[in-house]
Amino acid sequence: MLQFGQQDASFQAAGGYEGIRQLVNDFYQIMDHSPEASAVRGMYPEDLSDARDKLTCFLCGWLGGPRLYSERYGQISIPTFHARWPIGEAERDVWLSCMAEAIERQTWLAVFKTYLLQQLRIPAERVVQASRASKI
Ligand code: HEM
Repeated sequence: MLQFGQQDASFQAAGGYEGIRQLVNDFYQIMDHSPEASAVRGMYPEDLSDARDKLTCFLCGWLGGPRLYSERYGQISIPTFHARWPIGEAERDVWLSCMAEAIERQTWLAVFKTYLLQQLRIPAERVVQASRASKI
C-alpha cells in the first residue's frame, strides 16, 4: 500500500478534488468567522472566491494529484509569493489553527489528518522566513 506522500496517495486520502475543495471552503469559512483570525483575514481581498480556487488547485498538485494551479495560474513559489505580507509566527499560527479546525471537520482517516497538518507546517514556516527576509 502507498504511504501518504507517495504518488497520489495523499490526494486520494483527501477525497480528490472535491475533498480538497471542501477543506478549503471550510478553512476560509472558519477564517472569515473567527475573531482571532480577523487580522489575517484582513490581508485577503473581501471576496474570497479567487483565493478559494487558487488554494484548492494548489493543494491538489501539492498532494500528488493533478497540477491544476500551474495549469490555470502558472508557476508559484509559496514563500516568495507571501513575502509581501507581514507574516510572523502569530499570523502563521492563526493560519494553521484555521487549517487544523477545517481538517478536523473532514471525514478523513485520523492518521491522514495528523499527517496533513504536519506537512502544512513546512511551507507555513517557509512563508514566515521569506516574509522576515524581505523586511530586512
Ligand atoms: C503562514 C501563513 C499564511 C498566511 C498568513 C497566508 C496568507 C495569504 C494571503 C493574504 C494570500 C493572498 C490572497 C489574495 O490577495 O488573493 C494568500 C494566497 C495564497 N496562499 Fe497563503 N498564507 C499562508 C500560508 C500558506 C501556505 C502554507 C500555503 C500552501 C500550502 C498557501 C497557499 C496560498 C496560495 C496557493 C495562495 C493563492 C496564490 C495566488 O494568488 O496565486 N498559503 N495567502
